[in-house]
Amino acid sequence: MDLSDVVAKRYSVRAFNDQPVSEAALKSILETANAAPSAGNRQAYEIVVVRDAKRRRQLAVASHEQWFVAEAPVVLIFFANPERNRERYRERGVSLYCLQDSAVACAYAQLAATALGLGTCWVGSFEDRAVSEILGAPASWQPVAILPIGQPADKPRPRERRPLSNLAHHEKAGSE
Ligand SMILES: Cc1cc2nc3c(=O)[nH]c(=O)nc-3n(C[C@H](O)[C@H](O)[C@H](O)COP(=O)(O)O)c2cc1C
Repeated sequence: MDLSDVVAKRYSVRAFNDQPVSEAALKSILETANAAPSAGNRQAYEIVVVRDAKRRRQLAVASHEQWFVAEAPVVLIFFANPERNRERYRERGVSLYCLQDSAVACAYAQLAATALGLGTCWVGSFEDRAVSEILGAPASWQPVAILPIGQPADKPRPRERRPLSNLAHHEKAGSE
């Protein structure tokens, strides 16, 4: 699959069957995330990999009962780790770059999973503290995204995007 096919194929999968995700597929997804750009190559994020069923259920509860999080055989949790940036980048690294690093890595993981025929859904609606407690994360790590990964058990539905003429501003903000 070339990149445009992968991008076109990706959609938010909110139902998974019980087919497992192989270690090889997981490794490939993590390696792709690890290849994502980051500010100063500091990679100010951490990824927690969860396969345990009980923990997946706890994460689903912490995500306001988005049960598909528990359905997926593998769940990745992307945390910003501001301490990796503090010394080099100060406030901007702590409040911005580490969140951006986490987001780019998560987006790369989504595309890698799609390329392997797997489905993902970026879950951003969750109780930060509950997620950190479930995973025993240090207080300084900020959960950014929960990414369930598995074999899709639903179908993509049409969704709209803003027209480029509205989204892309040429030369000046607000222009078309
Ligand atoms: C920052 C962010 C937070 C999101 N949070 C959730 C979420 O909590 N639950 C959910 O079902 N989808 C969530 N999504 C997925 C979006 O709803 C989805 O990407 C959007 O509707 C476009 O659909 P598509 O991914 O199928 O193209 C989130 C996506 C992003 C980028």
